[in-house]
Amino acid sequence: MDSLPQHIALIMDGNGRWAQRRGLARIDGHSAGEEAIVAAVMAAHESGVPWLSLYAFSTENWRRPQPEVDFLMTFNQRVIRNNARAWHDLGIRIRYLGKADPRIPDFVHEDIAFVEDLTRENTGMTLTMAFDHGGRRDLVRATRMLVERGVPAEEVTEDVLGAHMQYPDLPDIDLLVRTSGEHRLSNFMLWQAAYAELVFLDVLWPDFRAEHLQFAVDLYHRRQRRFGGATESAARPGPMAVGAGAGDGR
Ligand code: IPE
Ligand code: IPE
Ligand code: MG
Repeated sequence: MDSLPQHIALIMDGNGRWAQRRGLARIDGHSAGEEAIVAAVMAAHESGVPWLSLYAFSTENWRRPQPEVDFLMTFNQRVIRNNARAWHDLGIRIRYLGKADPRIPDFVHEDIAFVEDLTRENTGMTLTMAFDHGGRRDLVRATRMLVERGVPAEEVTEDVLGAHMQYPDLPDIDLLVRTSGEHRLSNFMLWQAAYAELVFLDVLWPDFRAEHLQFAVDLYHRRQRRFGGATESAARPGPMAVGAGAGDGR
């Protein structure tokens, strides 16, 4: 595959284990993850990929101990404050996906609104921060909207449902990378991930750098995407086998 992935999504996992291995508190692992976030955004921006999505906080992460949840809320705000101006200067448009839970503090909403307003007209890469995001909740939200609008059952198609997602213009994910060696989606962008190429890396998120993104993109280029079809080239055994299971890890 020659073309650059249009939408790369990263499940940023492994902060806790990174800290644990150093005898540090879990929150120190989250803090260390900021450098990886900056590196990933810069590398994606420089590669020319138009859509980058980062999984920052899941609807399930509310189950964590309250001090860690509190830290993650503040941490998100810190990442925005430290980086929004620089990302804005690069023409990056920043949007937040999810952010629906009443437990999100007002000060976090304020900073999110600020950065979304600041970067709204930017035409460079769109950075989607999945924050208080759950793929299932997204689908429930869209379904509710259809019901509220009285859309007749026979008019509910994939296109219509897709048009009722929070960001209907967010394209399908081409390349989905999860760090930390876990092999699961954890409720991430279920609608958009339907045909994503999956890459699982053993690196823990705070250690993630441009070279890891490049490694994943290189793997992606060696994959054959078939979308259920049966082209002549798809019938040949391809390098897909390289990426099977944990063999993708690094
Ligand atoms: C990812 O790292 C950060 C969030 C989920 C917010 P974890 O905190 O899940 O780290 P591990 O998986 O426990 O190592
Ligand atoms: C997924 O990681 C959520 C984010 C990366 C924000 P988790 O660490 O919360 O997922 P599980 O618990 O391993 O499925
Ligand atoms: Mg985790």
